[in-house]
Amino acid sequence: MRSPLAADLGAIVGDENVVVEAERLRPYGRDESDLGEFVPSVAVRPRTAAEVAAILKLCTRISMPVTPTAARTGKSGGSLPVRGGVALDLTRFDRIVEVRRDDLVGRAEAGVITGDFQRAVEAAGLFYPPDPSSLASCTLGGNVAENAGGPRALKYGVTREYVLGLTAVLPSGEIVHTGKQTIKGVAGFDVTGLLVGSEGMLAVVTEITSKLLPLPREVRTALCLFRAAVDASRAVSAVLAAGVLPRALELIDETAIAATRAAKAPFRFPEACGAALLAEVDGYVAEGCAAEIERIGAACMEAGALDVVAAQNEAQRRDLWETRRRISVDLKSLHPRKLSEDVVVPRSRLAEMAAEVQAIGRRFSLSVACYGHAGDGNLHANVLFDRPEDRPRVDEAVAEILRAALRLGGTITGEHGVGLAKKEFLGLEQGEALVGLQRRLKAVFDPAGILNPGKMFPGE
Ligand code: LAC
Ligand code: ZN
Repeated sequence: MRSPLAADLGAIVGDENVVVEAERLRPYGRDESDLGEFVPSVAVRPRTAAEVAAILKLCTRISMPVTPTAARTGKSGGSLPVRGGVALDLTRFDRIVEVRRDDLVGRAEAGVITGDFQRAVEAAGLFYPPDPSSLASCTLGGNVAENAGGPRALKYGVTREYVLGLTAVLPSGEIVHTGKQTIKGVAGFDVTGLLVGSEGMLAVVTEITSKLLPLPREVRTALCLFRAAVDASRAVSAVLAAGVLPRALELIDETAIAATRAAKAPFRFPEACGAALLAEVDGYVAEGCAAEIERIGAACMEAGALDVVAAQNEAQRRDLWETRRRISVDLKSLHPRKLSEDVVVPRSRLAEMAAEVQAIGRRFSLSVACYGHAGDGNLHANVLFDRPEDRPRVDEAVAEILRAALRLGGTITGEHGVGLAKKEFLGLEQGEALVGLQRRLKAVFDPAGILNPGKMFPGE
């Protein structure tokens, strides 16, 4: 039996693109945040911006919650339909519209897998740097919604830096084209900038115009091994002070290394090492890159590294990166559950933050892993646990981690977004006036409050 809502949605997208069966709806209730299951009443799979517009217009009229979703790789619960209602599934927006070599511009729909877009761009000799670890399955639209980062953000910046313009549908049903198709352009307010990172709460993005770069011809990678995470964290500043800007400088701590062993990741860390920095440089001249990676190795040795191992070929490099990218998932082979944080601190406070996380883990008798984009001061502190009953204690430990980051002059989230996970902490970081301004902005875009409700703001 179809509900009247399902029938109305079917009239817009065709009944075959409306999901009502319990077993097919269930996956829409979960994501990679481990924050619980929130199954929508119905899921709808539009194919065009005009269909999205009709859906949003309908839902605004009947005050029905709508939660945009696609690959569900998010880590802050941003795509969980916490108020039920409609899951707006954008996976059918899967077309790479064009890669314009002469303009260094690409255009793709929101449901395109990030890794597929990168490959298409690289086939044209160009480069799309943003590389969230989930790039094999996450989508460009999700990356825009969360303003996703990744290892290469150190040199190239995050998703925001590459978004020139967006096609977006407002909750009213109006379709807008924000920004520009050119590299420069300052007409009007920066609505593109506002939509990037708006966590699916202001508008539904259906198409993205991206800035591209020439593809670097040379890449060199090295793994610097340390005794402990605190030593490796200190070396980060030493590397950056050595006058090189690696494209990535990733920390892997002892627990994360244990996870790579338990999950039989392709690279095996030597027994003696209790932490590592994965460094990578790129450029257009082989000798330049070789000299830079050598300089990084020397800075690490001077900062107390046990050893520096350079990747000798593309296969070794791939193994190192696959091992790094899998950490988030592989940690579950140590404990079945986890909450993943993504705090950022000024780089000079990184070692303090790493020590804080360890101390918090000890205080709550919880296993904690620290890894991630150390070069950006961005740490993935993951609190691991076994049973749902442990959750209150885990939540307390997470709260301590967030407070520690703020105390050190940092932020509660560097790349995963506030979503459901951190909404009670936004005020702590930003203060009432700024949160209030953002609530009012939300109401301008979405007066009926239908779009991804229950996220980002405290008390929602
Ligand atoms: C990573 C994800 C968790 O960097 O952001 O692996
Ligand atoms: Zn990350």
